[in-house]
Amino acid sequence: MKKDIAVLAGDGIGPEVMGSALQVLAAISQKFDHQFTTKEAMIGGAAFEKFQQHLPEETIAICKSADAILFGSVGGPIAEQQNPKWKNCEANSLLGLRKHFGFSVNYRPAKVYSALQDFCPLKNELIKDGCDLLIIRELVGDIYFGEHKFYQEGNLRAASDLATYNEDQIRIAIQAAFQAAKIRKQKVTSVDKANVLHTSKLWREIMEEEAKLHPEIKWEHQLVDNCAMQIVKNPAQFDVIVCPNLFGDILSDIAAVLPGSLGLTPSASINPEGFGMYEPSGGSAPDIAGLGVANPIAQILSVAMMLNFSFGLTKEAERIEQAVNQTLNSGCRTKDLTFPGQTSLSTQQITTEIISRL
Ligand code: IPM
Ligand code: MN
Repeated sequence: MKKDIAVLAGDGIGPEVMGSALQVLAAISQKFDHQFTTKEAMIGGAAFEKFQQHLPEETIAICKSADAILFGSVGGPIAEQQNPKWKNCEANSLLGLRKHFGFSVNYRPAKVYSALQDFCPLKNELIKDGCDLLIIRELVGDIYFGEHKFYQEGNLRAASDLATYNEDQIRIAIQAAFQAAKIRKQKVTSVDKANVLHTSKLWREIMEEEAKLHPEIKWEHQLVDNCAMQIVKNPAQFDVIVCPNLFGDILSDIAAVLPGSLGLTPSASINPEGFGMYEPSGGSAPDIAGLGVANPIAQILSVAMMLNFSFGLTKEAERIEQAVNQTLNSGCRTKDLTFPGQTSLSTQQITTEIISRL
């Protein structure tokens, strides 16, 4: 298979973990006889230095001509957020790409690897039945993309953000959830705040309409506040969780702590034409950038998601996931997955371990 991939490494640990991901991609293409051509483009603070923009036109053009986007991470140190290079960097880069390409459905898996149970912050008894959930987040609607404004209320400063949804936007995410549940554990939990919000009442209606079309799938509604509590109290009850944009942002961060490190969770954002962008769930971690200690697994698993979702290469994707599993089972650990006093592998060392198991 021949495919072009836009590579947007970005800031912080982005370039390091992307280096690992591209080594894995090269190894897979050699083993399975594919031709993947990669083209790098600038994004985030790195792009700002050259273009005075976090998401330059040139980068959009490179993405547009590619078959998929592999994204690293963007953003700078907390203390430097007022520096124009970093100000609104994440929002400009990510929301810009989401809006431009209409990435309406976001997949954020979170699972506890059996070899890493001790890193899950929950008590062992809460995860003894396993924990493997998938958050599907609507990504181009809701309060994120409604009108945002500051205004005066007499002599008071005021602000408002408008949340809107139409039924098509909701349906796309909910349909994706049912499709995902079919090849997973056959259950969908739909999250809303229907006891207060009209957008949520509409969300609920669409959920009920779609559920009728999939009688074989178990489903339920859950209010978002309860869902946040349930993810922590009993994560094993979940298979696929589908939610509006803002709730999905918050719930996916809660779920991302379950595996034990942000360095483990990949994500995918897909538009209705099937074009996708793949990135780690974690951020640019500027505090450890350049030290060669970042965990590349989330970026490597993002490659697996790309092969699977964008190119339909399920065998190749599984091979990567198995190699990651075996590497973790064999005791290989990066710094984020070691307790004080234990030795750890560098980014390159664990990459080499993973590639040796492909
Ligand atoms: C995420 C991020 C973004 C979001 C920010 C950086 C705009 O938190 O991808 O979850 O809120 O969607
Ligand atoms: Mn977020």
